[in-house]
Amino acid sequence: MRRTIVLTGALLLGAGVAMAQSPQEQVEKTQLAMKSNLTSAIVLSDMARDKKPYDQAAVDKALAELDDVAKRFPSLFPESIKGLKPAKGDFYTSPKVWTERADFEAYSATFVKAVAQAKAKIKDVDSLKAEFPDLNKVCMGCHEKFRVKG
Ligand code: HEC
Repeated sequence: MRRTIVLTGALLLGAGVAMAQSPQEQVEKTQLAMKSNLTSAIVLSDMARDKKPYDQAAVDKALAELDDVAKRFPSLFPESIKGLKPAKGDFYTSPKVWTERADFEAYSATFVKAVAQAKAKIKDVDSLKAEFPDLNKVCMGCHEKFRVKG
């Protein structure tokens, strides 16, 4: 698991530095960032559900990665990728991301705040169990409106 996280982090770093060469490449890079959110959330949820022992370093790393993606959220969805879908995968972006942009940016800002709150509050397994559901709700709230299955 740790290896996967390091690898995802390295890929994301690369994605941040190099400008996307084409809209379709941006779509794939955006999907990679979304997958990184899942990787981080699994680290936290495994500990919250006692599937793995609590590990503060792993928590800090997962939250740092979520923070990185959260802060880049609006820039991951430029106008140029409107209507495009990743080559593989079960999900794509709703056109509402562009037609209801202010709302999408508000959801993104809520995500940044939720990660900051988690960073401030998660210090042990009990606080993780208390905080994780709130963070997860922020993921689901945005998906309900802005992510399409298909
Ligand atoms: C502000 C909105 C927003 C928030 C917050 C958000 N997501 Fe997403 N997510 C999206 C959108 C839009 C897509 C569809 C784009 C895509 O799949 O490339 C998506 C796609 C995904 C996917 C599918 C990736 C794939 O394989 O195509 C996963 C998994 C995911 N998100 C996990 C998470 C998790 C976990 C969190 C919370 C820690 C989260 N997301 C928070 C908007 C959001």
